[in-house]
Amino acid sequence: MSRTALRNRWNDPSGGLGYHWRARRYRVRLWQPYHARVAQWLAAWQPPCRTLVLVGPSAGYALSDEFIARFAHCVVLEPDPLARWLLKRRLGAARCRFETLDVFDDPAALAALGTRAADTAILFCNVIGQALDADTAPPWRARQHAALVNHHWASWHDCFSSTVAPVALPDADDIARGADASAEVARRLWAGLRCAVVDHGTFGWLPETQHALWHLAPHQWHVVGWGVHRPRST
Ligand SMILES: C[S@@+](CC[C@H](N)C(=O)[O-])C[C@H]1O[C@@H](n2cnc3c(N)ncnc32)[C@H](O)[C@@H]1O
Repeated sequence: MSRTALRNRWNDPSGGLGYHWRARRYRVRLWQPYHARVAQWLAAWQPPCRTLVLVGPSAGYALSDEFIARFAHCVVLEPDPLARWLLKRRLGAARCRFETLDVFDDPAALAALGTRAADTAILFCNVIGQALDADTAPPWRARQHAALVNHHWASWHDCFSSTVAPVALPDADDIARGADASAEVARRLWAGLRCAVVDHGTFGWLPETQHALWHLAPHQWHVVGWGVHRPRST
């Protein structure tokens, strides 16, 4: 197996069987407000591209049929075999192709993503904050921004998470302060609450990030960011 191959993972902290079980249990009960927000973000994102690369979509729980139908082809990078099977059933084998680049583990794979045809858009589906952490995210971000500078790409990603709901979401002042202020922003969001907060290292990933709250499980809350990159010429 080459260095760039995405290995099958039936279970890992960010996906696999445990994630499908949670989706089955909480998708209707807890995830709907968050999915509605993701749907708004995706509806407003209109890259003029025929091909879409989905990175870490799982079974596409947050992706509507209307959104997927806007693209002629989908390329999927997803290590979870069950997620791939579910997604293939939904999209149809003719419209989606599964590839094995691991853009997080191999810099060459990330660079290869940036050499795709210009009418390819790339969507990171709540994976950046899961595959990376506060230490590994900043150098990967620099490589990602350089590799994909000429492509339309977008990402929604975990910024902070905790077993307790935050009292607020990031506001315009927080966003303007950018990535360096993430620890202070996390303190403000959970002000007055005694709990641990995980910083996923992704706050301020893109300049005009919007935020939503994901009630992932009864005792698990994630502040999720959304941002878009447009190539200079468009
Ligand atoms: C939090 S889940 C995604 C949730 C999904 N987008 C949804 O809306 O339900 C993160 C996904 O990233 C996938 N993943 C983990 N490492 C990855 C990698 N190196 N490349 C692509 N996907 C990866 C996991 O298998 C998992 O399906």
